[in-house]
Amino acid sequence: MEVVIVPDAEAGGELIAEAMAALLRRKPGAVLGVATGSTPLPVYRALEAKVRAGEAGVTRARIAQLDEYVGLPAEHPESYRSVLRREVLEPLGISADAFLGPDGTTTDVPAACAAYEAALTAAGGVDLQLLGIGTDGHIGFNEPCSSLASRTRIKTLTEQTRVDNARFFDDISQVPHHVITQGIGTILEARHLVLLATGEGKADAVAATVEGPVAAVCPASALQLHAHATVVVDEAAASKLK
Ligand code: F6R
Repeated sequence: MEVVIVPDAEAGGELIAEAMAALLRRKPGAVLGVATGSTPLPVYRALEAKVRAGEAGVTRARIAQLDEYVGLPAEHPESYRSVLRREVLEPLGISADAFLGPDGTTTDVPAACAAYEAALTAAGGVDLQLLGIGTDGHIGFNEPCSSLASRTRIKTLTEQTRVDNARFFDDISQVPHHVITQGIGTILEARHLVLLATGEGKADAVAATVEGPVAAVCPASALQLHAHATVVVDEAAASKLK
């Protein structure tokens, strides 16, 4: 695992966007795995600037979603499909046809999870998976004590994660309780994992990820098992590393 400490979120965004741009130059049809939440936004803005400047082409790229709320209508502004359309697809000029994601509106969740696993396999797998991290060490929405071998499935959000995500909704009662998330085993199949963590609130989770034991109580610690994992942290998120 490679740990890169950057001065701030913008520098982290720039570094990761350059890795994505380099991948797209090398492999124009690459599959980029994307996360939602606040942390990845500087990455998406930096990548947009590179695409506009002609430093990377996205006409053949595909975008794969990490997780989705269960039960929110697809057109709800906070469904992750909507968020990714707003923050990634539209700014980069990528068509909806190039988007892969689980169906959070389904009445048959196991079938939707299996279909998403099959879609990822048919796409040839994820080339670069961008990850954020929860204050409790979750990646995707694999909450603490998720199996490190887990596949795409339904998960119940912890109260902590619902509190953390309440800022995107009018009040916490509107935050869904369930999500479909790629499993940790699914995430580990991406060819390059890039985790970005910024801010002091992530410092404990980052320390457990990088320096703690590989253990399901800190799902992100599974990155230690991956042959090509990069953890990009600003100084605040790095503050509890030894
Ligand atoms: C969301 C996701 C989550 C977030 C995490 C951090 O798609 O995968 O693991 O990355 O909850 O969220 P932020 O970046 O908002 O602190």
